[in-house]
Amino acid sequence: MGEVSLIEVSKRFTLRLDGGVQTVHALDRLSFTVRDGEVVALIGPSGCGKTTALRIAMGLETASAGRVTVDGTAISGCGYDRGMVFQHAELLPWLTALKNVEFGLEMKGMRGAALRDTAMKYLTLVGLSGSVNRRPYQLSGGMQQRVGIARALAIDPKVLLMDEPFGALDAQTRETLQGELLQIHARTKKTILFVTHDLDEAVLLADRVVVMQHGRLHEIVEVPLPRPREDLAKIRGSEAFAQTRYHIWQALHDGAGAPGAGVNDAGVHGDGVHGAATLH
Ligand SMILES: Nc1ncnc2c1ncn2[C@@H]1O[C@H](COP(=O)(O)OP(=O)(O)OP(=O)(O)O)[C@@H](O)[C@H]1O
Ligand SMILES: [Mg+2]
Repeated sequence: MGEVSLIEVSKRFTLRLDGGVQTVHALDRLSFTVRDGEVVALIGPSGCGKTTALRIAMGLETASAGRVTVDGTAISGCGYDRGMVFQHAELLPWLTALKNVEFGLEMKGMRGAALRDTAMKYLTLVGLSGSVNRRPYQLSGGMQQRVGIARALAIDPKVLLMDEPFGALDAQTRETLQGELLQIHARTKKTILFVTHDLDEAVLLADRVVVMQHGRLHEIVEVPLPRPREDLAKIRGSEAFAQTRYHIWQALHDGAGAPGAGVNDAGVHGDGVHGAATLH
């Protein structure tokens, strides 16, 4: 099992600036469920609360109200039932790819041959079996991101949380990793919740797309594309792909007039003014 639910999650940040106190309402009663084995994309304008939602789901941040459950049990802090992949892989620079993956497993208590075997298994899964002894600076951005994915998968979490995992990569590497993530999902059947600014990526990878506006749930869009999704060029050219993409684009534009919601056809771009933010 691996069902994760956000239930009426709200988050306020308090900022002390220039002698005054400001409250940022980052999330406002956000609720949605990612079912066991499902891939859900979280999309919305910059500052609408996507990263905050993911960090709360991971247990890196606490909610001001509401709760997160995994298989019906409320989380308290981080746990091995959830793994996180960040926009920048955030590997330990002094450790090799192999040691980076082993590190998480050691923290979980794994020792001996199982440690190496498990780390190798996941590095092989992400296509890095030939580069396991390289340090992060000796790996390309895409390879580093693969290590980050292997590290998160190796602890065998029920749920994989990904914050713009391919956002910092060039278009070609991004497409390659999108295909790889689809294959990994087909093999592992992990529950995945990922944040993206890229409409095409959301439609290509997800079963459902959660559209957020100003810290709230705006709409959930079903993606009617069957799995396995293998011929990605054909999928991208399909009518169902185009229709779903347009539907999400419209949902994003529903709130485009509001402050901070800068949206264009290529995706969603912020301007540093946050739609979710209410300043007092
Ligand atoms: N630690 C923090 N302290 C104060 N405010 C914060 C903090 N983290 C986030 N915020 C504010 O909460 C709001 C939501 O931020 P968040 O990072 O979740 O947005 P996002 O949707 O992930 O944006 P982006 O697409 O740019 O990554 C923003 O107004 C942001 O400034
Ligand atoms: Mg973010």
